[in-house]
Amino acid sequence: MRTILSTEQLDAGITRLADTVRDNLGQAPLMVVGVLTGALVVMSDLIRQLEGPMNIGMVWASSYRGVALKPGRLDLRFELLPDIQGKEVLLVDDIFDSGRTLDALVDELRARGAVRVQSLVLLRKTGKSEVAMQPDYVGFEIPDEFVVGYGLDYNGHYRNLPYVAALEKNDIEAMSRTTLNAEVD
Ligand code: IMP
Ligand code: MG
Repeated sequence: MRTILSTEQLDAGITRLADTVRDNLGQAPLMVVGVLTGALVVMSDLIRQLEGPMNIGMVWASSYRGVALKPGRLDLRFELLPDIQGKEVLLVDDIFDSGRTLDALVDELRARGAVRVQSLVLLRKTGKSEVAMQPDYVGFEIPDEFVVGYGLDYNGHYRNLPYVAALEKNDIEAMSRTTLNAEVD
């Protein structure tokens, strides 16, 4: 595994993101909505830097990746989402790859009556977008490599790494020798 972003770089990136959000939105009360499971770590760090009034909600998204490195069918669940009617929403995800997840989520949150939906991602893979929308806030642009850590997983593993690393071919081979069951995001 090769480290792409160190813990120190991630900390500085989160502070920068939080400052930019508050510069844009002022002290307006926010409904911060995280995308489970990958946004767990960025959410917990970000909300502690975002001063001012807020509520927290979660949605769940999976693109049935398992051991594959490319996304499949998108599955979204909204059971954990509070009422967002009339709310200023900040949608938070770990990574913007094809953009299909965030695009679908923003549409759905608008349809549920939010006054505005802005989106924030920790990472964006350069040149991979397949959708017209782009996130309003991006922590870091990264090359098109499969990355893990700081919430991001490979087949359910590595979310707890305190840095972001690129998976290399030998990591995937080592994982496939020790993991028998494919899990979803
Ligand atoms: P998108 O819908 O193609 O933008 O993909 C978004 C989702 O795919 C993210 O929320 C992640 O869960 C997952 N994903 C995309 N790229 C990576 C990666 O490099 N490592 C781990 N998960 C990824
Ligand atoms: Mg995700």
